[in-house]
Amino acid sequence: MGSYWAFSQGEREAVYRAILARRDIRHFRPDPIPEEVLKRLYQAFHAAPSVGLTKPWAVVEIRERGTKEEVFALHQRARSQERALFQGKAQRVYDRLRLEGLLEAPLHLAVFQRPVPRSLGHQTMPETLTYSVVLAVGNLWIAARAEGIGVGWVSILDPEAVERLLGAPPGYRLVAYLCLGYPRAWPEEPLLKRAGWRHEEPLLRYRERFP
Ligand SMILES: Cc1cc2nc3c(=O)[nH]c(=O)nc-3n(C[C@H](O)[C@H](O)[C@H](O)COP(=O)(O)O)c2cc1C
Repeated sequence: MGSYWAFSQGEREAVYRAILARRDIRHFRPDPIPEEVLKRLYQAFHAAPSVGLTKPWAVVEIRERGTKEEVFALHQRARSQERALFQGKAQRVYDRLRLEGLLEAPLHLAVFQRPVPRSLGHQTMPETLTYSVVLAVGNLWIAARAEGIGVGWVSILDPEAVERLLGAPPGYRLVAYLCLGYPRAWPEEPLLKRAGWRHEEPLLRYRERFP
């Protein structure tokens, strides 16, 4: 019977294609993202569900080379600390991994959780404010796939150092640091899988209870 509200078959296929073919991109061409495309990405971002309709996010756009270099230096520091957690073969694989495209990407987005007036839902679970910001990032990531724009999430960074660098006001907390741009290639599978870092785990799906 299906649902009256379902999309047409072509529309459904496009939605699933954008979701399934989304990748974390770390190799970018330098050409800028046109403003009208960026506007559509922000529309997708800002349409995300948020606890109590708080929309508890704020975005800082970074295009200046100097700031990108400073963020890259923070990444290098965090990466060398993370590297020390692995030994032997794992460390050798780690050394070969490309884990960011900070210096190439024409645009960086620093996505913050910001203080919001009290609403419902986040009293019992304050972390739902952060989840809301992450959902907005997810929307942007999938919309970017449809636009042929790559997004790479860089979490190997000290968030407080990034907050200081960008002059974040009190109460603003870095949730995601993203590189955006036109990719040099579109990998069919996660780069970490291809590099032999990790296999993809199957979906864990239980009925009623955990076994
Ligand atoms: C919260 C979050 C943080 C991430 N941080 C990094 C990162 O610092 N460096 C990196 O190379 N990839 C990072 N990624 C990308 C993941 O490695 C990637 O999503 C995963 O390997 C699956 O690949 P796919 O996104 O292409 O499907 C991050 C992804 C998420 C969701």
